Amino acid sequence: MIVVFGSIGLDIVQSVERLPRPGETVLTADYVMLPGGKGANQALAAARAGGGVQFVASVGDDDFGRLALANLDQAGVALGQVVRRQRPTACATISVDRDGENQIVVSSGANLETKAEQLHAGSRQLAPGDLVLQQMEIPLPEICAGVELAHRRGARNILNAAPFQPIPPATLAKLDSLIVNEVEAEMLADNLGLDSGDLKAACDEVRRRFDVTVVLTLGADGAITFAPDQTLRADALPIQALDTVGAGDAFVGAFVAAMGAEMALSDCLRWGSVAGGLACLKPGAQDGVPDRVEIQARQDEIAVSAL
Ligand code: RIB
Repeated sequence: MIVVFGSIGLDIVQSVERLPRPGETVLTADYVMLPGGKGANQALAAARAGGGVQFVASVGDDDFGRLALANLDQAGVALGQVVRRQRPTACATISVDRDGENQIVVSSGANLETKAEQLHAGSRQLAPGDLVLQQMEIPLPEICAGVELAHRRGARNILNAAPFQPIPPATLAKLDSLIVNEVEAEMLADNLGLDSGDLKAACDEVRRRFDVTVVLTLGADGAITFAPDQTLRADALPIQALDTVGAGDAFVGAFVAAMGAEMALSDCLRWGSVAGGLACLKPGAQDGVPDRVEIQARQDEIAVSAL
């Protein structure tokens, strides 16, 4: 089972000609309200890619919460460990410009009430063989406690360090996989006193120091995995991006679904890359997330080579 422990919210998405500068107001005609939150997006991507997924999270007792859960429910994600809190469901305001570039502000709301104890409060307990997938939109102490608990129960820990928060070394040492984009890799390198001017060397050093597989996503330039026995580079899917919001989440969800199916690391990279690419073809974080048939149809387009 893939257990996604993390954030959920509603995205208010506005298309703008260009992103506002600080202090500037820009006008746009309409907006749409769409399900989002990195945890929910990744849970959906893993489920659409064929994984059995349990989602552990918090929402408010409000319409935003009901809307935010709708796609997960439809995709068959188990929602028994989603708790309704007093605080409102999280909400993100997202502006996307004509080039697909975005700017996001997240009001965390109920995500701040998410507790690691939810991981063992439901009818299903963590077990060896589970993959516990987290992001960094809930409080850091709960993330660390979640990693600790999963480690004790013999589950595999995967952390997508987005948005970046400094990760204690004891937590890094209990991860099986760490997934970062270039910005997060830079911040991680700085935080660990490594040279952020050479991200590949920094990621490889993180791998060595903490015995963790590091996945570095590079957007249109593909992705690289740093594992003990091999470093692999994958191309990105050749696409014309319409909206990159949630592309990283689609990558992570499909990558972890492939891990759960015990695929080779090269195929996990292919699945992540296809899902991340296809997610850019539709607006919003969840609408473009592909299912396993769509991923399989394009996986051979991703060239993977040893570095
Ligand atoms: O990664 C994209 C997500 O980040 C959006 O859905 C938004 O909710 C923010 O959390």
